[in-house]
Amino acid sequence: MSRYGEVYAAWKRDPAGFWSEAAAAIEWIETPTAAFDPNAGVYGRWFVGGVCNTAWNCLDRHVAAGRGDQAAVIHDSPVTGTKRVLTYSEMTAKVEAVAAVLVDRGVTAGDRVIVYMPMIPEALVAMLACARIGAIHSVVFGGFASRELATRIDDAKPKAIISASCGIEPNRIIAYKPLLDEAISLSTHKPETVLVHQREQLTASLDAGRDLDLAAAMAAVAGRRVPCVPVKATDPAYILYTSGTTGQPKGVVRDTGGHIVALAWSMGAVYDIKPGEVFWAASDVGWVVGHSYIVYAPLLIGATTVVYEGKPVGTPDAGAFWRMVEEYRISALFTAPTAFRAIKKEDPTGAFIGKYDLSSLRTLFLAGERADPDTVKWAEEKLNVPVVDHWWQTETGWAIAANPVGLGLLPVKHGSPTVPMPGYDVEVLDDAGHPVEAGKLGNIVIKLPLPPGCLPTLWNADERFRSSYLAEFPGYYKTADAGIMDEDGYLFIMSRTDDIINVAGHRLSTGGMEEVLASHPDVAECAVIGIADALKGQAPCGFVVLKAGVTRPHAEIETELVGLVRDRIGPVAAFKLAITVDRLPKTRSGKILRGTMRQIADGEDFRMPATIDDPAILDEIRAAVGAKTGKA
Ligand code: COA
Ligand code: AMP
Repeated sequence: MSRYGEVYAAWKRDPAGFWSEAAAAIEWIETPTAAFDPNAGVYGRWFVGGVCNTAWNCLDRHVAAGRGDQAAVIHDSPVTGTKRVLTYSEMTAKVEAVAAVLVDRGVTAGDRVIVYMPMIPEALVAMLACARIGAIHSVVFGGFASRELATRIDDAKPKAIISASCGIEPNRIIAYKPLLDEAISLSTHKPETVLVHQREQLTASLDAGRDLDLAAAMAAVAGRRVPCVPVKATDPAYILYTSGTTGQPKGVVRDTGGHIVALAWSMGAVYDIKPGEVFWAASDVGWVVGHSYIVYAPLLIGATTVVYEGKPVGTPDAGAFWRMVEEYRISALFTAPTAFRAIKKEDPTGAFIGKYDLSSLRTLFLAGERADPDTVKWAEEKLNVPVVDHWWQTETGWAIAANPVGLGLLPVKHGSPTVPMPGYDVEVLDDAGHPVEAGKLGNIVIKLPLPPGCLPTLWNADERFRSSYLAEFPGYYKTADAGIMDEDGYLFIMSRTDDIINVAGHRLSTGGMEEVLASHPDVAECAVIGIADALKGQAPCGFVVLKAGVTRPHAEIETELVGLVRDRIGPVAAFKLAITVDRLPKTRSGKILRGTMRQIADGEDFRMPATIDDPAILDEIRAAVGAKTGKA
């Protein structure tokens, strides 16, 4: 029997009491004076008056409690052929050293530090070093291009940047330092210090004065004690930029106290992981899944986390994940459905699965995009463990809806991430803000206040926070996901209500890609939509109308456009399809009919929009897509 109903009801009866109890799992320097203050911040703040330190709770307290020799971080890197284990004591020493280097370079509490690093333990060290001294980190995913990094530098205004000489993709070495140097030359704000972790695969050149070799700088301060700086629970722990509806990303702020309380609670209730067990989130530290479940949550409870520098397939084969589970006795694996689709494609019969001892694996967790029932069923059948789809966003930092393994599993409904977690009062509303009946599609919203761990605001942008998330449905947070709640309270997340698409579990803005296409001198007008992709879930597809008088071959311009998006946004955008058309379908008021274009591109039936200006254009779009993709 699941205790979910009872626990959810207990939260609903007394939210402050519920979260105060959860807060007891944290070591506070000063206990909060109130669990929640409805009058603070934009919609209230959690744990006001509380003072704590995240790095202390992730590392020092476990060393003090006797876990010093336990593995804190396992690094497994098939792309470099290396493996490394760092104990809690070793991690603490490294974090203190980086903290000392930052302090010596004038970084203090409240200063921002950008971390631009591949999947190596040094990335975690950098994040925790910031936490130790109360600095606010902002990790930027390595697959983003210089311009995206520059936008984040200008918004966060970091005093220092911590990076590495290179990242390694299976097919190439990515020199990070030139990308970083270009970003700094593009940005108006300039960091005072750049710390570079030199990897043996590639040595970066350093700018005398501004740049420091991280290992040498750490060696110079080795052994120096750097105490954990007391931080207010309501102070920002980090900023994580995520795609908004324009090219200007949103700086999601995570506060300190709520973050660690919510994550520590989730490790037991949602993931059923105990101290000393090995938990692997196969994501990247550049994404929210990486922040919450590679770095903070496992360490908060004294578990062992895994940093994997590789892919689910091709490094070297579709058995990579199973080798990891066997080798490190992993208790739970968390990844995106796209990784499973990739494995299933290479190994449809699950032959690799049979080659490894997976007896340690209790649960598979999926998130980041809709988990299609076929993939879930395949994983259940082949792994013979519960497969838990759970739904959340960068903004929330932890699951809005899940099947809480630690409270006892609820019956599974394929296609549903199950039920709202305590803290989240989820409703489904129509566009006018009225509740829709059970089973009917609508806007999924969360009644305010959001629980601990969710964003209190956007970085230096309270108004944007209000207008993006709170204005449309007063009293609620708009998730911008559309979906259904059935009679049993199960949620089904169907699509975004904005122009965000999800490519291989990576969240991208089509508006941002349109800005890039529109900057090409030959482009008059454009529209980017997400079309169905069997592996990545969605893939971007750009339609462009060229300026009158452009006579160059379309194919040449389309290739330039693909290159431009890769160059400006980054390879992670996976923008590979640009299609030239004579006109874009629009309503009579001039709004581009993106939804209809997507239905055409995906070969779906659609109803002719009543307000369409010229229906004949749809046939032109169908023909253009067909000619290019063989679909539609
Ligand atoms: N630094 C630089 N480039 C990167 C990068 C990084 N950290 N991560 C990805 N890229 C590049 C890739 O090399 C690729 O470039 P290419 O166009 O030259 O091939 C491009 O960005 C797209 O990468 P990716 O989305 O990883 O696609 P892929 O085709 O290489 O692999 C999957 C497909 C399904 C195997 C892969 O997407 C995957 O493992 N997904 C797991 C999902 C995940 O981690 N989601 C995060 C949220 S939980
Ligand atoms: P991100 O902020 O990158 O984590 O992306 C969040 C978005 O991904 C959500 O708003 C959803 O659109 C989608 N998403 C994440 N998890 C799920 C899930 N389990 N099911 C369906 N969609 C999901």
